[in-house]
Amino acid sequence: MSEPAWKAANRAHWDEKVILHLGPRGYDLTSLRAGHGRFTAIEEAELWPVDGGRILHLQCHFGSDSLKFAQRGATVVGLDFSAPAIDAARRLASELGLADQARFVHADLYDAPAAIPEAATFDMVFVTWGAICWLPDIYRWAEIVCLFLKPARFRGIQCLVWTTPSKQGRFGMCAAVGCGHVSGLRCAAL
Ligand SMILES: C[S@@+](CC[C@H](N)C(=O)[O-])C[C@H]1O[C@@H](n2cnc3c(N)ncnc32)[C@H](O)[C@@H]1O
Repeated sequence: MSEPAWKAANRAHWDEKVILHLGPRGYDLTSLRAGHGRFTAIEEAELWPVDGGRILHLQCHFGSDSLKFAQRGATVVGLDFSAPAIDAARRLASELGLADQARFVHADLYDAPAAIPEAATFDMVFVTWGAICWLPDIYRWAEIVCLFLKPARFRGIQCLVWTTPSKQGRFGMCAAVGCGHVSGLRCAAL
C-alpha cells in the first residue's frame, strides 16, 4: 500500500531537519562530543543510572540522546523513519567511538516489532521532545513501548509534548498506564 501524503510530507520534513539540526544553529552537541552528553534539566531530574542497561530510543532523530545513554554505559537501539537521520546517527556513533554500544534502525515506529525482533528485552524505552505528536495511533504507540519492555521493569514515562496539552498526550498516558508496566508517569507540555 502506498504511503499517505501526510506521512511522506512529515518524513520529508524530518529528512530536511537533520542537516539543519547538525548545523551551527542546531543541536548543541558540545557535551556529547566531549564525552559526557547531558540531557535537559527536566530529563536529568527524571533519569536513573543506566549503566549496563538496554535502552530502546524510539524516534531517535540523529541519535544524540541515544548516544548520551551509550556514554553512560548503556547499550542502545535507536529507531527512526528518516533515512538521513539514521545515516547521521550511525556516523556520529562511529565518530564518537560508540558504534559497539549503539545500533540504529531505519524503520517506521509501527514496524518496530518486526524491525527489532527483541520483545521484552529492554530496561527502558525512551521517547521525548516532539515525538508522539506526529503519530496517528497513540494506543498502538503505547502497545509498542510495552512490547519492548522487560516485564515489570518500567519505572515511568516522561511524556513531553511540544504543543499545548493535546488529546494525543492524554490518550498516550492512559494507554501506557493501561498496559500494566508503568508505575510512574509525568507529562509536561512544552
Ligand atoms: C522532534 S524529532 C525527535 C527529536 C528527539 N526527541 C531528539 O531530542 O533528538 C521527531 C522524530 O520523529 C521521527 N518520526 C516521526 N514519525 C515517525 C514514525 N512514524 N516512525 C519513526 N520515526 C518517526 C522523525 O523522523 C524525527 O526524527
